[in-house]
Amino acid sequence: MIRVLRSNSTCILSNSLFGPYYLNPLRLGGCLWYSTADPDLEVEFPRVLRTGRSNQVKSGPQRQLCQVVLDHFDKQYNEELGELWTKARAVLLDPRCWQYGLMLNRFTELGELSQALQAQGFSSLLPEDCGSGSLRCLVHPAQNRFPSQKHRPGHLKQLYLLNAASLLPVLALGVRDGDRVLDLCSAPGGKAVAILQSATPGLLHCNEWDGERWRWLRDTLQSFVPPALMEAVGVLNLDGRVLGRREAGAYDKVLVDAPCSNDRSWLYTSQPKQGALWLQERAKLPELQKELLSSALVAARPGGSVVYSTCTLSRAENGAVVEAVLASCPDAQPQDLGWLAHALSHRFTFAPNSPHGLLVVPDQGRTWGPMFLAKLKKL
Ligand SMILES: C[S@@+](CC[C@H](N)C(=O)[O-])C[C@H]1O[C@@H](n2cnc3c(N)ncnc32)[C@H](O)[C@@H]1O
Repeated sequence: MIRVLRSNSTCILSNSLFGPYYLNPLRLGGCLWYSTADPDLEVEFPRVLRTGRSNQVKSGPQRQLCQVVLDHFDKQYNEELGELWTKARAVLLDPRCWQYGLMLNRFTELGELSQALQAQGFSSLLPEDCGSGSLRCLVHPAQNRFPSQKHRPGHLKQLYLLNAASLLPVLALGVRDGDRVLDLCSAPGGKAVAILQSATPGLLHCNEWDGERWRWLRDTLQSFVPPALMEAVGVLNLDGRVLGRREAGAYDKVLVDAPCSNDRSWLYTSQPKQGALWLQERAKLPELQKELLSSALVAARPGGSVVYSTCTLSRAENGAVVEAVLASCPDAQPQDLGWLAHALSHRFTFAPNSPHGLLVVPDQGRTWGPMFLAKLKKL
């Protein structure tokens, strides 16, 4: 059982599993919102917002460090990143310092909420010169995690909670109004929502191979996108490796946010044997990633572009994948993303020498990432 104890300035949650959690109440738009450093402990925010009823709390499985994964990362990343891994390691091992970004949904009324968030010290992540169009994301210098809003059919959500580095692949893709776009590995849909926040594509195909995640993707889109705009959005359930051949040359822009090791979540598990299984799977990922990136290049029209991204620091899943695909696709040309790193260098820590793309490395006070992104042009 979880108890909610209130004091004047702090809400303390406690149960037998977790011990006490200290939540910081923020008064926003006349409502109390609670934030906590633990992503597995969430206040059901819509209830608080809608009815002001007493806070309902749900808890996920307890987060446990997975030693076998940490040992593996230590060995590999000490070699590949040196000092940068020491910094990233400190952040990844301390979930209480993790920051979260709030992507605002431009299809909802945001006036009061946006003002209230800014009064609380949130500021805009993206400067005007980074080509973000109408995409808006707010960040806070402190490590506040906002409770996520629940899916309610027929109601649009105002906020999408994310690791702000997830927006970089979307910025690199640079979707413009009218573009035909493919999001090849789309669930749960964060980047698809960001694409629709940044511009109004003529067509957006969101593809996800896993059935359950496909349903999650569909729910996400329904939660953030008005029905009229959904007419330009297709939610596909195909193997991304074959989609390129089926739709050869059909898209102006293609995003491959590939299945990857996901360093941040792989470090934690609620099942002790899971870590060892993940590490077995890890060795197979680069092959799948190469196939997906090659398929994306087939799907892009000549002159179109493809962005490849992962949320791992692993060179084998990042630069090495891009290098192998460039070697086998003579009609693909790497694009420089230095402009993006330059525009956002005050917000993110980029690895100084990352072959074939940008690598965001978690750092104190800029805990965003890991995120790798590379851009290729189809000749
Ligand atoms: C990193 S996640 C994508 C995250 C998503 N882009 C977002 O921003 O919310 C990678 C996704 O690729 C899916 N996937 C794995 N293999 C695939 C395949 N062969 N074709 C298409 N999607 C695949 C996984 O199920 C997973 O949902």
